[in-house]
Amino acid sequence: RQDHLRKLLKAAFVVPVLTIERVSDAVPLARALVAGGVRTLEITLRTDAAVEAAKAVVAEVPEAIVGIGTVLSPGDFQTAYAIGARFTVSPGATRELLDIAASSDLPFLPGVATASDLMQARERGFDIMKFFPAEQAGGIAMLRAWAGPFADVRFCPTGGIGEANAASWLSEPMVLAVGGSWICPSSMIRSGDWAGITAMCARTMKTLQAP
Ligand code: 3PG
Repeated sequence: RQDHLRKLLKAAFVVPVLTIERVSDAVPLARALVAGGVRTLEITLRTDAAVEAAKAVVAEVPEAIVGIGTVLSPGDFQTAYAIGARFTVSPGATRELLDIAASSDLPFLPGVATASDLMQARERGFDIMKFFPAEQAGGIAMLRAWAGPFADVRFCPTGGIGEANAASWLSEPMVLAVGGSWICPSSMIRSGDWAGITAMCARTMKTLQAP
């Protein structure tokens, strides 16, 4: 499970954190992202439309690798499983969430912001984590400080990451991928600017993958 998640994130590079308000936006949005080279998506459970939106993408956009984010409870984890998600993401890591995720094949990225959060997740066998909120909780300096005691842990930082700092995060050896809402802002989804989203993704991927 952890190996699979490591490969998935390394290949993804950038994971858009999506908040979808209308189910009808989901499929054109996912197609626009895939067309721009962004296949791994995190659909957050932050709206009433989220579950149906994610189901539609799983059913109709097979190229997309759909993860479910904002998993706050064991119930949310089960919802993600039922949707057919390929991975799950939480801003934190309660004991209940770690329990259910540890007993499942569905990969889980627990959210951590302190050394104790990290140690609790690590104790349960999780060695890939979402560093959240990455910029606000200490940024790259914090991650480098963790490299000493927690050299075996890898991260997907999110929170405060954008075009200006994504490359710096990605050049850190402990970082597998970066996540964030900047790559596909809600305003662009709301206005249905699918061509704009494709262009933005293509530009971002090109810049970040350049040697
Ligand atoms: C998340 O849940 O990962 C965050 O909402 C992403 O943070 P950002 O909006 O600062 O990118």
